[in-house]
Amino acid sequence: MYHKKLSEFPQDFLWGSASAAYQIEGAWDADGKGPSVWDDYVKIPGKTFKGSNGEVAVDHYNRYKEDVALMAEAGLKAYRFSVAWSRVLPKGTGEVNEAGLQFYDDLIDELLAHDIEPVVTIYHWDLPAALQEKYQGWEDRQIVEDFTDYSEVLFKRFNGRVKYWVSLNEQNVFTSHGYMMAVHPPNISDQKRMYTANHHAFLANAATIKRFRELGIEGKIGPSYAYSPTYALDSDPLNQLAAENNREMNEHLWMDVYTRGEYPKVALKFLASIDALPEMTEADTALLKEGTPDFMGLNYYQTNTVAHNPHDGVGAGKANYSGEKGSSSESGVPGMYKQVHNAKVEQTNWDWDIDPTGLRIALRRIQSRYNLPILITENGLGEYDTLEDDLAIHDDYRIRYINNHLIAIQEAITDGVDVIGYCTWSFTDLLSWLNGYQKRYGFVYVDRDETDQKELARYKKDSFYWYKKVIENNAPFPKYD
Ligand code: BG6
Repeated sequence: MYHKKLSEFPQDFLWGSASAAYQIEGAWDADGKGPSVWDDYVKIPGKTFKGSNGEVAVDHYNRYKEDVALMAEAGLKAYRFSVAWSRVLPKGTGEVNEAGLQFYDDLIDELLAHDIEPVVTIYHWDLPAALQEKYQGWEDRQIVEDFTDYSEVLFKRFNGRVKYWVSLNEQNVFTSHGYMMAVHPPNISDQKRMYTANHHAFLANAATIKRFRELGIEGKIGPSYAYSPTYALDSDPLNQLAAENNREMNEHLWMDVYTRGEYPKVALKFLASIDALPEMTEADTALLKEGTPDFMGLNYYQTNTVAHNPHDGVGAGKANYSGEKGSSSESGVPGMYKQVHNAKVEQTNWDWDIDPTGLRIALRRIQSRYNLPILITENGLGEYDTLEDDLAIHDDYRIRYINNHLIAIQEAITDGVDVIGYCTWSFTDLLSWLNGYQKRYGFVYVDRDETDQKELARYKKDSFYWYKKVIENNAPFPKYD
């Protein structure tokens, strides 16, 4: 679809940036905070790049005022951050740690004082370690009640000040990485356990949305889904079928349950065939249908190109967490699909496809299948940056990446998609879970690396000034080639 003239971004468009507690806060055991599963996981040798961890991260806990002042200087309209569950409830349930809750209270007030809309993510992967120890976290149904009660603490405290809530961040990532690929906590590789944990996460999501409405909380709530739209490698019918398989398992399986309360039939059949069907009751279905979201949160980084994969084809492959371009390998689900190289687009140094049109496709597919407003809760480029002698950072590659994705959003808006906001990942540099501190995403450079936290000084990158202009203009710049 070509447009002679693109529609303008809405006047109240939420131009923002996003982060997550473990990746920025540090202060991992300060002021009564309990440990999370990530505090434990990073201690396992060989699990993260150069053994990096978030114990100090970029020290946002102590420097949040400085960071919010920079956000205000950039003209941000919204800032998405997550609450560390074990900062608020050190054991996951029971008594509230007032000092922990107060930190978020102060952060929210600081944002509001600068006219920045807080967007609160209730869960961004840092489960209280106590709940993992007590009943295996997401593998036990008790998590549904505990997560909902935790959410209620936040709803009641921040009601009226926070209008946008993200229930779960990338459920598809934390369950697949944590229970299938064993590269996130709890370090398990078992399909049945993964889909069981995943089902409980669906229930927790729905129960929390239901509680939000029962309490009459002002505002809107929805999950953030990591959506990499599927392409078939070519028009070979077998590759097209592989793409269908991938869509069922990696697109519809999650977003259908969120929005319709129903698993797609093909996915259910496949799960049964591999003995990975979670236990589901009629009450579960009723809850899933009741707790549907107000918007779809979209985390978009790349598309996913797939091809036919026979029964004896490839399984788990090698991922690139080192930043050595080309070091990842094909991976797949035998008998279903395999992920292959897309020669039509460029890749980053971490082998992620750079594909702005894929974002337009993602938006279009969500709009036509689910018909919900979309909040883009993450999009950005993880790359090496160089701090020059004069303390400048010339990240023209990031500017090009984000600008071209913004044009794709504008095209999608012109196509008829309802996009309410856009949060870049991220504002300051932060810890990339498995990739250390060298894979940078921010508009603000934080001077530290994996082994030396230095002074953690903040320096504005070229992209900082560029994003400020985009927000002022309520529009991206013309396409960069
Ligand atoms: C998303 C997460 O998956 O992608 C973020 O919500 C994460 O927490 C971001 O940092 C980028 O991924 P990575 O692996 O490059 O840090």
